[in-house]
Amino acid sequence: MKLRRLVSLVLFLSFLVLVLTSIVLYVTPQGRVAFWADWRLLGFDKEQWGNLHINLGLLFLVTGIWHTVYNWRPILTYMGKTASKVGRSSGREFWLASVICLVFVAGTLFELPLLSFPLHLNAKIKDRAALDYGMPPYGHAELSTLQEFTLRTKLDIDKSLERLQDGGIVVAGKKQTLLAIAKANQTSPQKIFQIMRPKSEAAGLPEFPPPGFGRLTLVEISEVYKDSLPRLLQSLKEAGIESDGQQKFMELAQTHNRQPSELYKLLQK
Ligand code: HEM
Repeated sequence: MKLRRLVSLVLFLSFLVLVLTSIVLYVTPQGRVAFWADWRLLGFDKEQWGNLHINLGLLFLVTGIWHTVYNWRPILTYMGKTASKVGRSSGREFWLASVICLVFVAGTLFELPLLSFPLHLNAKIKDRAALDYGMPPYGHAELSTLQEFTLRTKLDIDKSLERLQDGGIVVAGKKQTLLAIAKANQTSPQKIFQIMRPKSEAAGLPEFPPPGFGRLTLVEISEVYKDSLPRLLQSLKEAGIESDGQQKFMELAQTHNRQPSELYKLLQK
């Protein structure tokens, strides 16, 4: 068995898995959405895909460094740096390659349109996923104990426990986290919340704006929180804010020189 061939093959295979996990991570919902809705792909959750990406990435880096060290001389030749082969063309290619990388670094930092595209697309996919899968009432709500969670969402804990029991959900106690309850009952924290919530409260905006709320348009807000769009638009109109519903919540607040919390209160009316 040749070590050189073995390392090259590990480098190649780890690269393939790295590419796959990179694509998955690119389209995965944001952590708070993924953990809340128990998002999975091929049976693996976001954390497992992230873990695979990190460890396969490390394997790729280690074998890549080994491969680079082993092939150092041919690499130097490519870059036109070996004493005997300072070819003009390869020297030019080296500088051109450096300029391309620099353009990518500077273009990303200065948000040039072409280089902003993959980043905006990434944000769009994640925002859409937040709408499709639903957002937690506050960041990392799934890590709260039932006691904390009912306190923060202003739910009656005893009635919530009753509803869970009626819904066939087994709860070990008030100190159990939503995530632990969901895992023990093979469901998502989001489903647990839906069961605990009285039907009358299933629609409407939560008391405080959930994370990521600022990036939603009024149309999306009405879709996610099952609130009527004309009602939302009318509440704003009464406060002198005209909107067609397509502007993002945060942009709307900025355009009309209002605090986001003030605008949120208007929508809640
Ligand atoms: C083929 C090259 C690679 C591509 C295209 C790539 C792409 C990505 C993407 C799309 C994400 C998710 C970003 C997000 O959350 O929006 C990510 C996260 C990450 N990548 Fe890579 N990656 C590559 C190589 C590597 C390597 C070699 C490492 C080194 C171990 C690495 C370490 C990480 C880490 C630590 C994270 C954060 C993971 C997490 O939040 O769970 N990546 N990468």
